[in-house]
Amino acid sequence: MSSRARVEILHGANLEALGRRDASHYGTLGFDQLEQQISEWARELDLETRFFQTNHEGELLDHILRIEDTADGILINAGAWTHYSWALRDALEVAALPTMEVHLSDIANREDFRKVSVFEGLPTLVATIMGKGPAGYREALIRLKEELA
Ligand code: DQA
Repeated sequence: MSSRARVEILHGANLEALGRRDASHYGTLGFDQLEQQISEWARELDLETRFFQTNHEGELLDHILRIEDTADGILINAGAWTHYSWALRDALEVAALPTMEVHLSDIANREDFRKVSVFEGLPTLVATIMGKGPAGYREALIRLKEELA
């Protein structure tokens, strides 16, 4: 890719409350600080970023269905929607862009309901990174950059 790759950073339900959530799973960084940190990493990696967070599932679906011409890849932490929003998976399939799934906490080693991810097996899913806190986002940006090269 000759110009800078454009990465859409999507955050779902309750992520805006970071800093007020269970620190043993999510750490103490606030949501604004997390987005700022992601921007800095993206700049270092020469990636263009656009951020979107919502607590409304339909809003996220609408956003994803219109993403096609404005992004080359997607990085998503869908929060609890990860575990049951098959509509979200379908929307990402329509968007058809390389997608990285990120979770701050280790969803494979928490409550049973968190062990399901609707993104598993999604044709465009590049990889899932979980349990690495904010550093997982940096790793995800690197993976996505490689994928888009
Ligand atoms: C999360 C894990 C989800 O199970 C939870 O509902 C979240 C955050 C994470 O980043 O670890 O809201 O996606």
